Amino acid sequence: MYYSDELIEEIRTKSDIANVISGYVKLQKKGANYWGCCPFHNEKTPSFSVSENKQMYHCFGCGVSGNVYTFLMKYENYTFPEAVKELAHRVGVDLPEVEYTEEQKARADKKARLLEINKEAAKFFFYQLRSPHGENGYNYLKKRELTDETMQKFGLGYAEKNGNNLIQYLINKGFPENLIIEAGLANHSERSGVNSLFWNRVMFPIQDANHRVIGFGGRVMGDGEPKYLNSPETPVFDKRRNLFGLNFARTARSGDMILCEGYMDVISMHQAGFTQAVASLGTAFTAEQAHILHRYTDTVLLAYDSDGAGVKAALRAIGLLRDEGMTGKVINMRPYKDPDEFMKNLGREAFEERIRDAENSFFFEIRMLETQFDTKDPEGKTKFHREIARKLCEFEEDVERDNYLQAVAEKYYIGVENLRKLVFNYATQTGAAKPLERPRNTNQAKATPEENGKKAQRLLLTWISDDADIYPKIKSYISLDDFTDELYKSVAGKLFESIERNEFSPAAIISSFQDEEGQAQAAELFNTNLPEEISGEDKEQAIHDIIMTVKKSSYEYYMSKTGTDINALMLAIERKKALETLQKTHISLT
Ligand code: CTP
Ligand code: MN
Repeated sequence: MYYSDELIEEIRTKSDIANVISGYVKLQKKGANYWGCCPFHNEKTPSFSVSENKQMYHCFGCGVSGNVYTFLMKYENYTFPEAVKELAHRVGVDLPEVEYTEEQKARADKKARLLEINKEAAKFFFYQLRSPHGENGYNYLKKRELTDETMQKFGLGYAEKNGNNLIQYLINKGFPENLIIEAGLANHSERSGVNSLFWNRVMFPIQDANHRVIGFGGRVMGDGEPKYLNSPETPVFDKRRNLFGLNFARTARSGDMILCEGYMDVISMHQAGFTQAVASLGTAFTAEQAHILHRYTDTVLLAYDSDGAGVKAALRAIGLLRDEGMTGKVINMRPYKDPDEFMKNLGREAFEERIRDAENSFFFEIRMLETQFDTKDPEGKTKFHREIARKLCEFEEDVERDNYLQAVAEKYYIGVENLRKLVFNYATQTGAAKPLERPRNTNQAKATPEENGKKAQRLLLTWISDDADIYPKIKSYISLDDFTDELYKSVAGKLFESIERNEFSPAAIISSFQDEEGQAQAAELFNTNLPEEISGEDKEQAIHDIIMTVKKSSYEYYMSKTGTDINALMLAIERKKALETLQKTHISLT
């Protein structure tokens, strides 16, 4: 849906950012700004600031910044239109009706109906569990040491022996049989008609990130096959793109996520306070799920079963996490089978220790690899070392590969140089990675003149956005062409124009970019770290220096672009002259 800039602005100006954010973060007013603990990284002392003047937030710890829309997008994981919709709702602005095609309308209606039916079914199971019919289920869950509170939190339920009560209930609620079947709650056969899929099972509603029930898992009580029965995929139940527990884990903010295999594992973990636990949905972990987790964290702790199948699943997940650019670590569950049993036997603190000791996924992979070789035998040992070399080639970055190479060589008593040679041989034979000849110089590259220029441009924009009164005093010295980056130039243009019009508003500029990346970059321009508490002559000097750097870098930039164009050269020379004049000029801010 496309909303006009005017509408987006109307909604934004009607919502006060400090007011909105204080619904999520405890804020305290200090000086001109509000302060609180940053909701986007873990911290104990507040470095998250909200400026009423700018209508923006900025964290001095992790560097995030933005306006009220980007806050909601980040915190609630909304898209931009969703954030607009949410705020419009809060401030009572009516949004134009969306115009859908007939087909889109039908599809949206269908999904809405399926979600309704799931919700009703979840309610039915929920009440069954707490009624005399559900005693078996309730006792089963109690025996598995779940508290009433936990059962409530996860909306656990029970499907009784006579599954057709559910179907009757749904029909009475006005849902047609075919929809009940399409929701995956029943199937149809020539012989016996419409039958409930779930009966005599404790029921785990599967919710999407917004707490909507999209499907179910049902577990038999005691032994029986299959142990778990899951809803089939439906238009609202995509098993590749959802995770059990994510609706709670997404706001856990523990800095990591714990990936388990089973529903019961997730539930026990949450009960023990590890609310960052999630599981895939009775299917193997997918690349899509890795991507979803990446929105919330860089680190995934694998809490898979300690048996052979669990190890295999963990190895697969590690590969997917690596492809997604995330760090995987493996939690050792021994001597227990899974997190559920671990928690019951050893409890929270022991698990915390296991988290601290979680194994780097690369070493886990090597350790598992080792079990496939007879390393007492020289032949087996050589093969093992070759396999290590092969795995090392999976690291694309030289520094990272060499760091792992040294670590693994030390751990397995392999000569570093020998291992390097093996890697080199393997890489050149297969072209798998760039041959690792000698360790590269690991020093960080020095900032280029262009980078320095851009930094000065950012500082200047932040300074003006903090204090719009500076602009009229310096505007004769700078022009939009001094901003050498397209995005910077566009932001500067909008900022200067809004000041000229007396409608100064950095926050408005941010949401004039519709894509998230543009918004984030624009927000950054208004939140470069400025020297603190600077005033008077010092401030004048600092601004003078910044303008000088901006001018100098733009001069150099245009010089490098002139080539043989005589006009461009003339322009560059004029810039040079202006620069020399500016050098001698005193910029007064008073
Ligand atoms: N699973 C499934 N179908 C099965 C068995 C398992 O979909 N027949 C899925 C379920 O999502 C289950 C997960 O795989 O939660 C892990 O299975 P398993 O380790 O066998 O079960 P546990 O989680 O240990 O379940 P419980 O503790 O209830 O025995
Ligand atoms: Mn288990």
